[in-house]
Formats: sequence, structure tokens, C-alpha cells
Amino acid sequence: MEKKQWYKDAVVYQIWPRSFCDGNGDGIGDLLGVLSKLDYIKSLGVDVIWFSPLYPSPNEDYGYDIADYRNISPDYGDLDIFKKVLDECHKRGMKVIMDLVVNHTSRQHEWFLESQKGHDNPYHDYYFWRKGKSDKKPPNNWLSTFDGDAWEYNENLDEYYLHIFAKGQPDLNHDNPKVREEVKDIMRFWLDMGVDGFREDVITWISKAEGLPNGIPIPVACGLEHYTHGPHIHEYLLEYKRDVLDNYDCFVVGEAPMMTPKAALPFIEEGDNQQLDMMFHFQHMEADCFMTDPIPVPFSLKRMKKAFSRWQYALEGKGWNALYLENHDHPRIISRYGSEAYHDESGKMLAAMYMLQKGTPFVYQGQEIGMTDIRLPELKMYEDVSTYNAHRLYKSVLHFPEDKIMNIVKKRSRDNARTPVQWSSADNAGFTTAEKPWFYINENYWKINVEDQEEDPNSLLNFYRKLIKFRKKFQVVRDGIYKEHYAESNKIYCYERVLGNEKLLVICSFTDKPVEFTSPAGYNLEEGKLMLANYGKNMRKHNTFKTRPYELRVYYFGDKA
Ligand code: NOJ
Repeated sequence: MEKKQWYKDAVVYQIWPRSFCDGNGDGIGDLLGVLSKLDYIKSLGVDVIWFSPLYPSPNEDYGYDIADYRNISPDYGDLDIFKKVLDECHKRGMKVIMDLVVNHTSRQHEWFLESQKGHDNPYHDYYFWRKGKSDKKPPNNWLSTFDGDAWEYNENLDEYYLHIFAKGQPDLNHDNPKVREEVKDIMRFWLDMGVDGFREDVITWISKAEGLPNGIPIPVACGLEHYTHGPHIHEYLLEYKRDVLDNYDCFVVGEAPMMTPKAALPFIEEGDNQQLDMMFHFQHMEADCFMTDPIPVPFSLKRMKKAFSRWQYALEGKGWNALYLENHDHPRIISRYGSEAYHDESGKMLAAMYMLQKGTPFVYQGQEIGMTDIRLPELKMYEDVSTYNAHRLYKSVLHFPEDKIMNIVKKRSRDNARTPVQWSSADNAGFTTAEKPWFYINENYWKINVEDQEEDPNSLLNFYRKLIKFRKKFQVVRDGIYKEHYAESNKIYCYERVLGNEKLLVICSFTDKPVEFTSPAGYNLEEGKLMLANYGKNMRKHNTFKTRPYELRVYYFGDKA
């Protein structure tokens, strides 16, 4: 089937269903809630909705541990309601993509339950079951990214199973052709129903090194060099593409932790061997941490810019970027790379900074109103399995004092992104009519909420709408070539996009201090049209000016404005 690259024109909105909107009054977000907000989502200018897992799950990792791939969790509704949502999205001209989590299942999935029954069980080889070493140690030294050892012992079988993530997430063995057939069937099930593609969870990790050899001993995720880019990864992804995805007008974005542009191209380079339409890499999210959020280091603008530019340059003319700053796995971006003190200013600057690059932008629920981190004070208030793992690591391996650990947890927990969406200043932020929502609501909902921002033409919410309209109106935003200016600055991010005689100059200040800015050679701001900005008054067109806190200016040069 000839593929249309509609995803290149699209803006995607991510829904993490549990915290989006509660439609049946039980305190948990659900599909009825989604249904009630489809017009709102459409009003943003969004073209695609990505649903984080909606499937039945024991929620050991909030939906990323799937117990049944062909159903909807009763927390969220049922298949009929899902079909209604899908239909209503399509009626509004929006597409829908599902989260496909096939690196692992839940330990309550029937395949796993069967696999533990015996070595001869037909499902045994769906997973990585191995004998331990003679000294009662696991089969190798791999560590889970979430949960201590990457191996869990089963007494009945006298074997261990592999789990790269939590204990409740046993890894599927994609080397088994039966597993690959199952994955294809799951894909077909949803595509035949009418969904428009997938976000594929840690998909670049599904092939494990033969023999599962020991990893280089490091205190977390030891062994990762043996699965982050396994020996059969391209082969399996090509198989999924050729046998299934190629037969549908769908698109696929793969999650790819630890990915570099060089390693990415063999997955996403356009042509016969392309396996994914785009991928979520993590490099620009590592500007204030070492490899992963829970290991904080001071924010470095240069590091962030370098990551963005590296991907923009490397993919030019070859592949397509997925652009994001938030999702359910990272703290809120204003709290992180922006400033809560300059909430609206930094929120708008950050929005334009990433959305005007080349690629498909993703917006995470609540990002459009600038929701901020909740920073819960006590460990027991957290829900996220990886938060507990980080705490354990800091306590038992690094022996940090408790207050230092809690400071990290407060800033870095994924739960910061998982608080209910703040719809209004009514009780429970308008998220639920139940007395108690399933999780804590950020107390700042009285000042950061959708309802209030709807009424304010200068709100962050309305800025997102303007920005998305702008993206769609000017082809230079879709297709222009990216080039960074002043790469050495640790206060200003400035880049251009050029397409024929159309040009865009994006200027972003990442500080509350004034910075003297001079337009790059070849740019006369007096000739440009200021299209987007986060300060309204006294905007002058001098080529040299002092920036205001977190100032944003986007100039357009050309004859289409
Ligand atoms: C990535 C998902 O985004 C995250 O939420 C999850 O915990 C891991 N993959 C494991 O599925």
C-alpha cells in the first residue's frame, strides 16, 4: 500500500487516561471523560490522539504491564466505548494511535500464567526462563531499570524469568516466532478496528543478545549493552512492518531510550528498509540529568541545544523527528527547563522552542496550560514503581541521607506528570465529581486551569492554539532547513528555518536576566515580521536588544505572511 506521510503535518496529543478526565464519577479518568473533551482537544488544532495504555492491567507500572492486549480496562470503559471514542475522533478529523507495549507483558497475562506451569507448556518459551547459577544466583548480573535484579525466581520451576522493567513486567521472547505472530495479530486487531497507528514502547529493546551474557557491572540497568540494540532488532521490526504495518495507512513512533542519531538512522531512514516513521529519543531530556531523570545534574542549555541540533542536522533529508518536551515519564517542563516564577513566559518560550523545529510535535495532557510539578513531600504518597526504585538505590547503594533522597524524588518522580488535569478551579480541579480523585491534585489548580485560560486571550493555552495554527499555515515550519546560531551561548537558543525565500528566526532566552542579543548575520529584524512573542508591549525591531525574562521572539521573512 502506498503510504501517505500525513504524520508530517500532524500535531499529536498524548492522553494518560487515568488522570485525563473522569466521566463516571469514580475518581479515575476514563473514556467517557475523554469523549466529553474531544471538542476541546480538537480546538487545540490537534490531529492525532495517542492513548497511553488503556488495556486491562494490574497497574504495577500503570498500564505498561498489560494483562490483555485485546480489551479495555474496566477502569476506563469497554471496547464499545472505545469504538465510540474512535468514531468520534474520526468524525472530527482526528486520528488515534494506541500504545503497543510488547517488550514485556504483565505477569498476570495468561501467556505468562501458562508459561510458569512447566517447561513443556507451549507458552514457556514466550518468555526468558533460565536456570540460576549453581550458587543460587540469577542466570546473569543484569539489573532491572525499575526493580533490583532483572531476574525473579520461581520455586515451582526452579528457574528465573527476565524482567528489564518491574517484576510485574516479564520480557517477551521475540526470538520465538510464535511471539512475533502474536504481536502481529495484536497489531491487526487494533488496525482492523480502525486505529491509525502505534506508539511502540521501548521497541528498540526487544531483541536480547544471544546467551544473555553478563553486562558491564554498573549499579543500575546493568546489562543494557546486551539489549538496547540487540542482534535481531532490525530484522524483527522489518518483519512487523512488512507483514502488518505496510498493509495499513498507519504510522508508528517507536520509543528508543539510549538512542543516538547515528544508531537511529537504520530504523528511520526513509526507504525500503525503514522500520519506524519516527522515534522518541531521550537526548534533549538529558540536559539536567545523567542518562536518566533520577540522576540530576545542573541544567545546561548548551547540552539541550546540542541534542536538538544534532538530531535536526542528522535527520535532514533522511528521516523525520518526533518533537516532545513532556510525557508521562518526565517531570513537567516549566518546572524543569523553564521557571515557575515566569510561568507563562517560559511556558510559551518552551512551546515555540520545540514546536518550530522540523518534525512532528507531541503535546502531553496539561502541558498546554503549563501544569507544574507537584513535589509530594513523603515517599508513601508516590505511586510510581520507578520512584521507589530510585529511592532504594540512593538509600542502599549510595547511602544518601533521607532528606537529600527526598529532594531528588520530589523533583524527579514521574508522578509529577501524572496528577489529574486541572480543568477548572472547581472542586478537584473539575477532574472528577467523586469525593476523592485516585491521585493528588496539584494545589495550584485555582490559578492554573483550562477554564480560566480559555477566557484569557493571552493565556498559555491560547498561545498553543496560535502556535499550532502558525505551524500549519507556513510550510517553512514543516519543511524548512534548520540551522542553529550562537551554539556557544548558555543563555540563548537561536535557530533559523529556511525554505526557498521564506525564513524563520526563533530566539529564545532561557534566563530571567537580561541578555544583549544581536541578530545573526544576514538577518535584519526590521525587515522581518514578528509573528509570535511572549511579551506584547514595546516590542521594537532593533537588531540589538536586551532580552526580557524567558523572552521568545519568532520573526518571519518572506512574502506569505
Ligand atoms: C516506557 C513507558 O513510557 C514507561 O512509562 C514504562 O514504565 C516503560 N516503558 C516500561 O514499559
